[in-house]
Amino acid sequence: MSVTVAVVYHSSFRGNVARLAASVAAGAETVYGASVRLIAVETVDDHWQYLHDCDAIVFGCPTYVGSVSARFKEFIESLAGEIWLDRLWLNKVAGGFTCSAGRGGDKFNCMLDLVVAATQMGMIWVPMPMTGGNYSTQGSEDDLNRMAGYLGVMAQANIDQTSEEAPPASDLRTAEAYGRHVTEVAAALRAGGVRRNAAPASVRPWRLAET
Ligand SMILES: Cc1cc2nc3c(=O)[nH]c(=O)nc-3n(C[C@H](O)[C@H](O)[C@H](O)COP(=O)(O)O)c2cc1C
Repeated sequence: MSVTVAVVYHSSFRGNVARLAASVAAGAETVYGASVRLIAVETVDDHWQYLHDCDAIVFGCPTYVGSVSARFKEFIESLAGEIWLDRLWLNKVAGGFTCSAGRGGDKFNCMLDLVVAATQMGMIWVPMPMTGGNYSTQGSEDDLNRMAGYLGVMAQANIDQTSEEAPPASDLRTAEAYGRHVTEVAAALRAGGVRRNAAPASVRPWRLAET
């Protein structure tokens, strides 16, 4: 059975989140029948119909000042018109990922923002399937899920490294595994006939400037 996935992301400082987004998409593509679209948030206006129709959306943005980056927040707020009111994304699968420079860096708050936004839309949030790594003297930075996040992918990139060097391979592999998991859940829900609302062809995102 086919399953369609969108990875919508913002990345501006070093390109770290863009690398994670590519890993999430690569993981999603390993699921049989999956069709995956990577969408930089700046280009979202070219992709609304795909977003309405797809089975899952994975949201990704950097943690800026302990929260969702402003450009990504603008995208989230554009969902607050018909998409929210008419439950257009009801029962669509959702997931998320973020990256910060600090090990903590208040990125949990950013992830919570993503969870709240998705659930306000009536989406079904998929948590990280694996247990946290790097938990003990036997653990290491090479462990999958080394940040021990459970809401989604919590990545970390040293602030003085390029996106070629950071986030590390363990975070990219974690993102890949998560992308695959979200896609498997979406495929299962689709196969089970989960109820979804079709978007009329004319639906546009809500723009504060136009109200
Ligand atoms: C404006 C700004 C605010 C930031 N705020 C935080 C923060 O609150 N906590 C943190 O650990 N890192 C913070 N960082 C670091 C970024 O989260 C980190 O470099 C991230 O990987 C950037 O992703 P990007 O390259 O995809 O934009 C901040 C960076 C910028 C530019």
